Amino acid sequence: MKNALSMLLIGALLLGGLVVDLRQAPPRPPLRELAAEDGLLIGAASHSSYLDSPRYASQLAREFNSVTSEVSFKFANIHPEPERYDFAPADTLVSFAGRHEMKVRAHTLVWQLAVPSWLIHRTWEPNELNAVLRDHIHTVVGRYRGRIYAYDVVNEVMADEGVLAQDFWMQNLGPEYIENAFRWAHEADPEALLFYNESRAEDLGPKSDAVYALVKDLLARGVPIDGVGMQMHIGPEWDAAGELRANIERLAALGLRVHITELDVRLPDPPSAAGLAVQAEVYRQVVAACLETPGCEAVTTWGVDDGTSWIPYYYPGYGSALLLDARLNPKPAYHAVFETLRSHDPQP
Ligand code: XIL
Repeated sequence: MKNALSMLLIGALLLGGLVVDLRQAPPRPPLRELAAEDGLLIGAASHSSYLDSPRYASQLAREFNSVTSEVSFKFANIHPEPERYDFAPADTLVSFAGRHEMKVRAHTLVWQLAVPSWLIHRTWEPNELNAVLRDHIHTVVGRYRGRIYAYDVVNEVMADEGVLAQDFWMQNLGPEYIENAFRWAHEADPEALLFYNESRAEDLGPKSDAVYALVKDLLARGVPIDGVGMQMHIGPEWDAAGELRANIERLAALGLRVHITELDVRLPDPPSAAGLAVQAEVYRQVVAACLETPGCEAVTTWGVDDGTSWIPYYYPGYGSALLLDARLNPKPAYHAVFETLRSHDPQP
């Protein structure tokens, strides 16, 4: 009896201590709050359908102040037939962002891998195809005028060797389609920021040199371009923070903004504790580079959590690339980003 009483007492004390501890532990501020103090946008790509999961939706809205459309603005998705647009998924994402005070990065108006079959499976006169593209851009950008912070106007135009890819648009329209796309987007929404977005052009080399030359030429000819997006689908071996900073600096010197637009750091399956630690360090380096290099204004991860990431589908044998695990809980990479944002002293 005496034992039982003292056990009860000890239990009550422990529980009491725990409650006090829990009360004392300050709640962890969301990434978006820390990022805002640093003047940085922190974003994630999302499919509108993922918002049906309450836990996913609440984590997206809690942690991020920017959202990128992972698929819903792509040509083939939003304009699947000549006379039919499907705006519903984009509408869902844009209104979600509005309700949660998040900016929208709309991705992407022109991309060789999102050309709908109704465009591919016939031949086009350049005038005719130009009219289709102009109308498409005017329709989409015009509909969302005032509600989109930034567009990835053209995506992945450059081949790795640093020459323009011979893709559907290039073959049918020649290189002018790039500047036309920017001009038409600007006509439809003069306030939206217009980006050129590219893969594997964040380090220094022939491809990023070619991107630099391309955007410099666009600027020189008065094309309304505001910035360059660096995708950054990378792995744990990435070790080019110095090159990334130099690359951001030279673009900023042209007066352009830089956004890291599709960051993920894929790991071989199953991820080890060591792998997750290296991944955290890579995330830290990318976020620090953006925070500390003037001109870099946004870091977007390509998804919210490992359960909805595109990586396992496109890189079989790899995954675990994002900040939250498949249960939407923070990983070491999340804590690394959190600490980097928290400890950064914004420049006055
Ligand atoms: C990917 C999406 O994540 C997938 O869901 C989709 O099916 C295919 O495209 N570079 C880009 C993005 O610019 O549009 C790609 O997104 C990933 C690579």
